[in-house]
Amino acid sequence: MNVFGKIVDIRKARWANRQESWGLVPTMGFLHEGHLSLVRRAKAENDRVAVSIFVNPTQFNESSDLDAYPRDLQRDLAMLKAEGVDLVWTPTIEDAYPTGYQTNVTVTDITTKLEGASRPGHFQGVTTVVAKLFNVFQPDRAYFGQKDAQQVAVIQQMVRDLNFNLNIVVCPIERDEHGLALSSRNSRLSEDGRKRALCLSQALRSAVAAYNDGEKNCTTLKLMMTAHINNVAGSKIDYISIADRMSLDEIEIIENGALLSMAVFIDDIRLIDNMIIE
Ligand code: PAJ
Repeated sequence: MNVFGKIVDIRKARWANRQESWGLVPTMGFLHEGHLSLVRRAKAENDRVAVSIFVNPTQFNESSDLDAYPRDLQRDLAMLKAEGVDLVWTPTIEDAYPTGYQTNVTVTDITTKLEGASRPGHFQGVTTVVAKLFNVFQPDRAYFGQKDAQQVAVIQQMVRDLNFNLNIVVCPIERDEHGLALSSRNSRLSEDGRKRALCLSQALRSAVAAYNDGEKNCTTLKLMMTAHINNVAGSKIDYISIADRMSLDEIEIIENGALLSMAVFIDDIRLIDNMIIE
């Protein structure tokens, strides 16, 4: 497994095997089974797999959140080696944003909602860095998790709008045995916080169950989820949404499927989760 930071080395490694297909898995490191599920899918669908590890400062709203973001490169590299990854790209800040950097990629409409409304500038940071990764690496396929549902929608929009020549593959959410969506941020939860954090997936699951029992009214379903979360000590709702899966606009009545999503603070840790109604 080759590990490079410099773009020139990454390009050389990628084009040395130009006749083979490459899958790219962009990450911010501190890897868990969620990330590894993307890596395994990429392994199954491509001749070669590359993983990028870069804690992208421009997508963080608070410098305290950036500073607190967990990191362990040696552990990450050992995990990726065990998965048979071919190439790991670990750019430094200077590699990614050299002095004088002044270009950004902005997706407009769908970034104004949900995560975008709560985290101004977040998606511009994401699309800019992902566009750079795609430009440098030019993978045949890139792998993203449904865990970040809006991120997937935003990146798909960018790929359509800017004609990136690659396929975006969306992978299902990996959860622990109790239903908690795996996230690097979970490592900041206390043991008790981890138990209380189950309220996100439980609220979503109970709303999906109510929908399956015939409840199609989103106000009712959102009230149910709100009550469920508010019952849990140390929880604070950022948003609870039932939206159209394409536009991410809030809907009143579920007729053609929906994205149920939420952001909730447990103690001071901001967690997101979602479920899709087909
Ligand atoms: P990061 O949070 O490290 O996530 C990397 C990828 O792993 C994302 O596509 C994310 O959706 C996916 N992922 C995270 N938890 C998952 C889970 N429990 N199940 C399935 N997939 C999961 O998302 C980012 O990094 C960054 O925004 C990035 C795209 C790398 C740009 O900086």
